[in-house]
Amino acid sequence: MTRRLGSGSLVIATHNAGKLKEIGALLAPFGINCLSAGSLGLPEPDETGTTFVQNALIKARAAAEASGMAALADDSGLSVAALDGRPGVYTADWAERQWFEGAPGRDWYMAMGKVEGMLAEKGEAIDRSAAFHCVLAIAWPEGDYAIYEGRCDGSLTWPPRGKMGFGYDPVFVPAGGTMTFAEITPEEKHAISHRADAFAKLVAEQFPR
Ligand code: IMP
Repeated sequence: MTRRLGSGSLVIATHNAGKLKEIGALLAPFGINCLSAGSLGLPEPDETGTTFVQNALIKARAAAEASGMAALADDSGLSVAALDGRPGVYTADWAERQWFEGAPGRDWYMAMGKVEGMLAEKGEAIDRSAAFHCVLAIAWPEGDYAIYEGRCDGSLTWPPRGKMGFGYDPVFVPAGGTMTFAEITPEEKHAISHRADAFAKLVAEQFPR
């Protein structure tokens, strides 16, 4: 039987302010107060896993052990069928670290071009299907854990289109649609995204009505 979060505080194992805000807003209706790993001064563990599940668990467990509280972590990325699931857990790493106007960032256009170049090498008739994955892991200091896996199937288009979203959004067209994740509104994306899918599963099990 999966352990459930009571009401109270939950450490969000991310140092990304955007993710903390998004996750905090999603969990607020359930009486959960979200604290960030960054504000607690928790160290960021190395993501040494080879699957999204392993990396999400590494982050959630590290935060739970260091804080003594339940912790939630996510790991996400893009898997391209014709590239045997790559970039997968290395999705962020495929975008080189760069400085943009004095702030650290990553070069997503280079990363999208790299994926496209590898697909192009395989010929015009290649299968362009891909999926975004999101795994949410909750870990408790006593060693219990829960895993929720979300995905959004679609295909890759080229050249990139759209100005909204982030990361690989401009080349990802969700199944059944014609516009990329970067051409639709955040609300439209959140209704069908891999993250929404994983959160729906978490809410269904952790906060049943
Ligand atoms: P992480 O989950 O923070 O390790 O990041 C995984 C990487 O996957 C991100 O840096 C993005 O490049 C990519 N990614 C995950 N979700 C999305 C999405 O919704 N749109 C575009 N890219 C995404």
